[in-house]
Amino acid sequence: MRTQVAIVGAGPAGLLLGALLNRAGIDNLIIEQRSADYVLARIRAGVLEQTTVDLLDEAGVGERLHREGLPHGGIELSFAGMRHRIDFRAHTGKQVTVYGQTEVTRDLMQAREEAGLDTVYNADEVSVHDFDGTSPRVRYRLDGEPVEVDCDFIAGCDGFHGVCRASVPPSALHVFERAYPFGWLGLLSQTPPVSHELIYSSHPRGFSLCSMRSPTRSRYYLQCPLDDRAENWSDDAFWDELRRRIDPAAAQALVTGPSLEKSIAPLRSFVAEPMRFGRLFLAGDAAHIVPPTGAKGLNLAASDVGLLSRALADHYAGSDAGIDSYSERCLRRVWRAERFSWWFTSLMHQFPENGEFGHRMQMAELDYLVGSAAASTVLAENYVGLPLER
Ligand code: APR
Ligand code: PHB
Repeated sequence: MRTQVAIVGAGPAGLLLGALLNRAGIDNLIIEQRSADYVLARIRAGVLEQTTVDLLDEAGVGERLHREGLPHGGIELSFAGMRHRIDFRAHTGKQVTVYGQTEVTRDLMQAREEAGLDTVYNADEVSVHDFDGTSPRVRYRLDGEPVEVDCDFIAGCDGFHGVCRASVPPSALHVFERAYPFGWLGLLSQTPPVSHELIYSSHPRGFSLCSMRSPTRSRYYLQCPLDDRAENWSDDAFWDELRRRIDPAAAQALVTGPSLEKSIAPLRSFVAEPMRFGRLFLAGDAAHIVPPTGAKGLNLAASDVGLLSRALADHYAGSDAGIDSYSERCLRRVWRAERFSWWFTSLMHQFPENGEFGHRMQMAELDYLVGSAAASTVLAENYVGLPLER
């Protein structure tokens, strides 16, 4: 079998890359180890920067997003019993769109199927070969039968635990990492959101976040110990703890209901450099992870593949300048988002090892942040996303 670009992984990075390449007339095959249903069952964040919305439009999958996505012109910060709004439109003229990653993935899968493009699901033993030469190949097994795909390029869109980054010789990789001493316990419920915008709350009992998927579906998170387990939390215990961590007005407005899902995710900052090895390109979680506090994971994945699709189109049009600078251009944006996500995480969570002094520093910074137009603008500008320079 032969294709121009073999894409490993059918998460948002792989699917969006496939759609953008298709628009550019570049043949591609997506190879995914799981089933489509398994991919769609993963619950992830859901805040899209305008540059991500623009890329989804460019890929031809923006229709439902524009109909059902919720435009948000700000967020609320809650601390010391009070809520303060950071107005994105006033500070930056921009907004974000709340639309679940699951829905983005569903739209991309459906468009791909309608366009009759090939996606191999349930591929076993996926492996990548000879990407340091001129004829890279991807091998896998389907229903026990070996398959080999010859291609011009391999796109490693296979997430943090994927095979692509793991296939690069360790001596060629430089890895930067920080693990945080807590996780997020998430709960999804068929209840109206407590507020029409997201509430990020700092509290001595721990951070919490009130988010949403739609006017009737909510997503909430609680900072929890790393060794905690979702099974330890009854729905009532979750709602009681959330009420304690948000301001009294929000606690009173909170509508509770049975959980549809509860799970714990660890928080991590991670970057692997570079993002290109010969004819293998890494994109999305395969190359970098951010803690979820700034909702940057999906947006970074989208900007990576936005740059990669353009660079590959330029290659087929005769210029390698784009693929030669892909890694450097991505990493510049990645590190800015890493910095923002690390800063917002450090500001909002309880770090017992930082003691009372550390807590007072956080409170002083929050007080400054909501009272200073300059500081509010810094938060707003990073949250709505920096412009994508292509
Ligand atoms: N072979 C084929 N597919 C693989 C392999 C493999 N060896 N390993 C992993 N995959 C698949 C996974 O099953 C998954 O569907 O690659 C896909 C990677 O998708 P994501 O983990 O969603 O990563 P990405 O597409 O980069 O999206 C980034 O997802 O994790 C969130 O916060 C992150 O929102 C961000 C987004
Ligand atoms: C979510 O809705 O899941 C969500 C929103 C914002 C974040 C993280 C997660 O910062």
